[in-house]
Amino acid sequence: KRPAGAPDKSLARKVTKVGVVGAGLMASQMALLFARRLEVPVVLTDLDQARLDKGVAYVHAEVDKLLGKGRISGDQANRLKALVTGSLTKDAFADADFVIEAVFEDMKVKQKVFAEVEAVVSETCVLATNTSSLSLTEMGSELRHPERLVGFHFFNPVAVMPLLEIIRGHATDDATLATAFAVGKSLKKSSVLVKDAPAFVVNRLLTRFMGEVITAVDEGTPLEVADHALDDLGLPMTPFALLQLVGPAVGLHVSETLHAAFPERFGVSQNMAKLVAAGKPGVYGADFSLDPE
Ligand code: CAA
Repeated sequence: KRPAGAPDKSLARKVTKVGVVGAGLMASQMALLFARRLEVPVVLTDLDQARLDKGVAYVHAEVDKLLGKGRISGDQANRLKALVTGSLTKDAFADADFVIEAVFEDMKVKQKVFAEVEAVVSETCVLATNTSSLSLTEMGSELRHPERLVGFHFFNPVAVMPLLEIIRGHATDDATLATAFAVGKSLKKSSVLVKDAPAFVVNRLLTRFMGEVITAVDEGTPLEVADHALDDLGLPMTPFALLQLVGPAVGLHVSETLHAAFPERFGVSQNMAKLVAAGKPGVYGADFSLDPE
């Protein structure tokens, strides 16, 4: 059955090579997923060799885990490792049909990435963004071909979470959207078309939920109490464990986007902002304690 809002699948373009901009955790997880499910070469790019090596090493380690669990054969493991490579320059995207970015959540950074990608790829190469909250229409405003920009938003952990939010910007054309749905299907994800609205659907709901828990802690509820208050609801993980999984910087960024769009409805936790500014990996209470001021 065709997902609601998806164009006819006959419009989808074939994808024979994928580019992934960024070699961070989410980008590396995506690279593995594309290689495994599409069985095409995937090139990761990042700003320096160390990050690139880390991304490729992550993919290899995950492939070894799949092999260890008996999910793939030795031959498949070798093939997967060979399919995912790293490159410091985006020239390696020249013959890619689908390039996705998973870089820092900042409009200017993402626009710059796409300008660089557009300079090397073909006119029909799909440009996809894993943005969690930013406007597709604005992101594509400086592209020569904004019709091939589409939102392709994964959730953490990418290998496990079935949902994929597909976002149509003002200019996105049917062939691009159909390709996005076809790729989503090959990845075995459940794709849903969502509006190009601040934080889309999942993060808008999640930010409301997380915001209430964070506010409770900011107002003095002990973290352990707030974090475990809903245990019996059967959530797969506690709110602060989820914040740690997603990354406090991403969480903060989404809440800032929502606050800018709907100041009456969404606040920004100053403790979260301090936590992110401090650049520490943990979340408050666990590895991180906020200095009372
Ligand atoms: N990478 C790859 N695989 C992972 C993984 C990871 N980081 N974490 C867990 N897994 C796999 C495990 O290997 C295991 O696979 P197998 O069954 O094949 O062995 C499977 O997931 C289950 O893992 P566990 O048994 O260790 O643990 P669990 O049952 O507690 O599940 C979880 C872990 C799937 C993360 C679960 O806790 C969960 O669903 N948490 C909620 C996650 C969630 O809400 N994500 C959305 C975040 S919002 C977001 O991402 C927004 C954004 O824009 C940034």
